[in-house]
Amino acid sequence: MTEILQHHDAGVLTLTFNRVERKNSINVAMYDALATAIEQAAGDAATRVVVIQGHEAVFSAGNDIEDFLKNKPQGMDSPVFRFLRGIATFPKPLIAAVCGPAVGIGTTLLFHCDLVYAGDNAAFSMPFVNLGLCPEAASSLLVPQMLGHHRAAEALLLGEPFMAETALEVGLVNRVLPPTECNAYTAEQARKLAAKPLGSLMTTKRLMKGEQQAAVLTRINDEAIHFARMLGEPAAREAMTAFMEKRKPDFSKC
Ligand code: COA
Repeated sequence: MTEILQHHDAGVLTLTFNRVERKNSINVAMYDALATAIEQAAGDAATRVVVIQGHEAVFSAGNDIEDFLKNKPQGMDSPVFRFLRGIATFPKPLIAAVCGPAVGIGTTLLFHCDLVYAGDNAAFSMPFVNLGLCPEAASSLLVPQMLGHHRAAEALLLGEPFMAETALEVGLVNRVLPPTECNAYTAEQARKLAAKPLGSLMTTKRLMKGEQQAAVLTRINDEAIHFARMLGEPAAREAMTAFMEKRKPDFSKC
């Protein structure tokens, strides 16, 4: 079964997480499919806008924890980092439709989108510390910038989830909708963008991102060094083993 569905219509490429039974957690093959689709869409004249969406009950539970332990990212050319660089440098409009849980990269990828629409059931969380890890996707830079340090600390240090209403208030999402309407409304907004002159869209986006892009890429690399080291350390092993064994982690020795 294809775990990343791809649909192309009228200049809009829609990528849909299709692994609901595992809460749309993302394995290496899915990162590879996402990265390849984004890389191709960047250079393909027929693609003017990309949408990333999930199911109306769940956006994504983030990294597939079991797969992540088995297939630790090997270097910056591994699929997860290709995907992160792809969304961080994507030159055309990138839109997300988020309903239900959006965990880890399910939330951090949104900071690279231009528009985000959320179902009123959306729950955003970045529990990297709870997993013995550190932020990725330049979230250590982008989350404090958008939320301010104190709210970012609740999200990144305590790993506390926040709901659609808060995401709207801080500017992470553009609009909150009933989950049954979220993907359709997002598709409508994508079609509107795809009908606009692509050159103007791309130049405007490039100007809006400005010098921030270089800082974002540097931060993705810096975080990756710490993330890779921490993946092999006792806290992460304990947290991930505890998740798979469905018990609370014991960090008393970490
Ligand atoms: N990696 C691997 N498997 C995952 C997963 C993940 N990130 N998230 C969920 N699953 C699996 C569960 O182990 C469970 O498998 P099982 O049916 O064999 O028991 C199945 O998907 C359903 O998940 P469950 O936890 O029962 O669903 P829920 O509706 O109660 O909770 C979440 C949904 C997303 C809140 C919860 O699954 C969760 O917190 N997942 C982990 C998120 C996480 O830490 N991600 C890593 C970020 S770096």
